[in-house]
Amino acid sequence: MKAKNKIAALMMVLSLTLFFFQCSKDPQIPSPQVTGVTFTVPHGWPQPVYNFEENTLTDAGFNLGRRLFYEKKLSRDGTISCGSCHQQFAAFANAAHARSHGIDGQFGKRNAPALFNLNWQSSFMWDGGINHITVQPLAPINDSLEMDGNMNDVIAFLSADASYRKMFKETFGDETVTTQRVLKAFAQFLGMLVSSNSKYDRIQRGEAGYAFTADEEIGKSLFNQRCASCHTPPLFSNFSYRNIGLEPNVALQDSGRMRISESVQDMHRYKMPSLRNVEVSSPYMHDGRFKTLDKAIDYHINKPYYMSNIDPVILNGQALSADEIQSIISFLNTLTDNTFIHDTRFSDPLYK
Ligand code: HEC
Ligand code: HEC
Repeated sequence: MKAKNKIAALMMVLSLTLFFFQCSKDPQIPSPQVTGVTFTVPHGWPQPVYNFEENTLTDAGFNLGRRLFYEKKLSRDGTISCGSCHQQFAAFANAAHARSHGIDGQFGKRNAPALFNLNWQSSFMWDGGINHITVQPLAPINDSLEMDGNMNDVIAFLSADASYRKMFKETFGDETVTTQRVLKAFAQFLGMLVSSNSKYDRIQRGEAGYAFTADEEIGKSLFNQRCASCHTPPLFSNFSYRNIGLEPNVALQDSGRMRISESVQDMHRYKMPSLRNVEVSSPYMHDGRFKTLDKAIDYHINKPYYMSNIDPVILNGQALSADEIQSIISFLNTLTDNTFIHDTRFSDPLYK
């Protein structure tokens, strides 16, 4: 009993010390600023859609965008930042959340997609409702289920904060905070999220010491036959909209691409997700209905739910055996980019 009490007391002292240590760190001083920010198109990749036109990439602009991405005060009650739903260890998807919690614990309609290689995309969101990387942040900031903020409040908050004013001056030459400047800084951070250092990439580049295992090779050849026409390398998406036969969740009333195009042909079509980093971005699909890759692939390929505009490639495709699915997963795991997931340039600047 006595020993137990001693241990409990010790634990208490330890946790209190830790608590005070953490509180004494001034959260307003960001950790080392990132320097030498440059954007390069990975070897063998197509030219990006967005190349920071009229938004010259600078260290100051990137650092401002990075801080804004993790700034909870952009939300109405100061509880939610972009980083709350887009977590780096999950390749900036929302780990373990089928549909993200926004403000007041409310659930949105859709699964937060992983964020990387965004400069190669000409449209955003599962339905492609946003067509430029520079306007994307306005959607979550204003969404009543996500951050429920508005740009007037955001501008007032940033203008009243001396450390932000300094960062705006370093980036844009003077302290004025405008919507356009906020969006430019966001685009610099978002556009820099390039994931191109997976085992697969290293093998593609012929780096010494990297080779596929026998199982990964089997998976790769199955992937090329059955998946690559849609999840096309090197981005592992052709960014088209397809209906792959996921039984609609009636409660969500989500018509997919049709919401934007208003064409019945687009009912339940969703934007092709990239399969890079898919090992760490669970749960899967636009509504996060599957927790594991084998379930996601089994339903996607073997158990499509019939709808009139279901993709013929899926409808007419042959079933995959459990072994084949496992080999494909082995191959997909070679698309995990640990350098990207642990890159401290992209982590929360206040706590690292
Ligand atoms: C409450 C959770 C939540 C917050 C907070 C949030 N997002 Fe998202 N994000 C999502 C969801 C869910 C989607 C998909 C929405 C859809 O398809 O309708 C998404 C989509 C995106 C996309 C599109 C990705 C693609 O491949 O199409 C980008 C980029 C993005 N968010 C960036 C941000 C930024 C920047 C912020 C902060 C200003 C932010 N998000 C805040 C949940 C969130
Ligand atoms: C006809 C085009 C097409 C083909 C072929 C295809 N997919 Fe997909 N895949 C999609 C679309 C579209 C989605 C998103 C569907 C949604 O969420 O509604 C998707 C989603 C996925 C997801 C979930 C990704 C995530 O981040 O949520 C995985 C995993 C996946 N596909 C793996 C595969 C594999 C493995 C193959 C080959 C055996 C394959 N796909 C073949 C179109 C295709």
